[in-house]
Amino acid sequence: MTNLAYDSQLDAEASTQEIAAMQSLRPVPRVSIQAFCETEGVAQPIERAGEDRRMAKTHLKVHMGGIATALELYKQAPTPNLIILESRKEPRDMLASLQDLAEYCDPTTKVVVVGHYNDVGLYRELIRSGISEYVVVPISMADVVSVISTIFVDPDSDPIGRSVAFIGAKGGVGSSTIAHNLAWSISTLFKSDVVVADLDLAFGTANINFDQDPAQGIAEAVFSPERIDEVYLDRLLAQCSDHLSLLAAPSTLERVYDFDQEAFAQIIDTAQRSAPLVVLDMPHVWTGWSKATLMKADDVVITATPELANLRNTKNIVDMLKRLRPNDPPPKLIINQTGVPKRPEIKSDDFAEPLGLSPMAIIPFEPQLFGNAANNGRMLGEMEAAHPVVATMNEVAHVLTGRKELKVKKKAALGSLLGKLGRKKK
Ligand SMILES: Nc1ncnc2c1ncn2[C@@H]1O[C@H](COP(=O)(O)OP(=O)(O)O)[C@@H](O)[C@H]1O
Ligand SMILES: [Mg+2]
Repeated sequence: MTNLAYDSQLDAEASTQEIAAMQSLRPVPRVSIQAFCETEGVAQPIERAGEDRRMAKTHLKVHMGGIATALELYKQAPTPNLIILESRKEPRDMLASLQDLAEYCDPTTKVVVVGHYNDVGLYRELIRSGISEYVVVPISMADVVSVISTIFVDPDSDPIGRSVAFIGAKGGVGSSTIAHNLAWSISTLFKSDVVVADLDLAFGTANINFDQDPAQGIAEAVFSPERIDEVYLDRLLAQCSDHLSLLAAPSTLERVYDFDQEAFAQIIDTAQRSAPLVVLDMPHVWTGWSKATLMKADDVVITATPELANLRNTKNIVDMLKRLRPNDPPPKLIINQTGVPKRPEIKSDDFAEPLGLSPMAIIPFEPQLFGNAANNGRMLGEMEAAHPVVATMNEVAHVLTGRKELKVKKKAALGSLLGKLGRKKK
């Protein structure tokens, strides 16, 4: 009895070696992690790792039941940023069950396997098939924090976060509203962290839309670039919900905002090292910094309303971005505010055709829904979860994060095919 008690006390405290091993590790960013263990010997160090200060920003959950439990869960639920799987199976069987699980894994999810076989062949096979790391039992808490840290913190590795820049073809088309709602949908649907950066310092509305009034935000970062690192960024972020935080604009006119071309580069880079998705809410301007920011974003989403000036501007932005980023996919298009009563409009197909793009979404003019949400500082999904516009937002959330193909594409292709057939008949 005494022995057992003594043992468990030892277990709960880090050994001198563990403390030494962890000294040089940096805090792990806002990632979601789920572990599926088969033995206490693995579950316990993972649980303890979750309590380490370096893991304070992560969302970690430990389940028992190994790969089988993971498979059951992910048949229905989206996968987190990292899955840790313990398996006592021998190599061949382990590879087979991992294969089954792979079908349900989001493309961006990383996987670490904890095995009981010290087998170089298995290790190579796992790494080749995209597994981030294979560790053999016994594992310590320091091993766990170190593996996670290598995957997400290593300064030589790519930042974990993607950046998506949202810009309107004109002012007032709904680009910010859509950016905020998509960020919210992604953070709630996938329980994956999103940072929204409001780059419209003078007039930004993210603070209003998320009902936040932080004392500090993006202005502090942009005016003291030498201070920016993950810790400083953390202090500037306003937590809007479990998985959503905001780098708010001051939205005041006390100072003017003339920025250098690279003014936002470091903030964005740091944010991308801190969360899996960074949403850049861009003002409708064309300046050195806005051009540089659009050029560097992983994805660009243009929101336009269906009228001529919007079409002309969208065409210019699309052409410019194609020239600036010839090796990237074209920007994505959202046509917003269709069907405004009595307002003549360009049909969505006619709008999209000269751009050579299929709209990712077509969102109708819904003044009541949008107006209520805006005036109450609530997201559309919080106001009226069952509204078709919310379903559209959720659909786009899947497409933007690579969880689903663009559905509209097929329809558009079929549409133009039918159009051609129709023309031939005449
Ligand atoms: N589909 C829509 N139906 C009705 N109102 C909308 C729609 N989309 C946006 N709005 C409203 O239009 C206004 C301008 O939106 P905002 O997102 O600030 O535009 P932008 O960022 O492009 O300047 C807001 O009041 C918003 O609630
Ligand atoms: Mg805006």
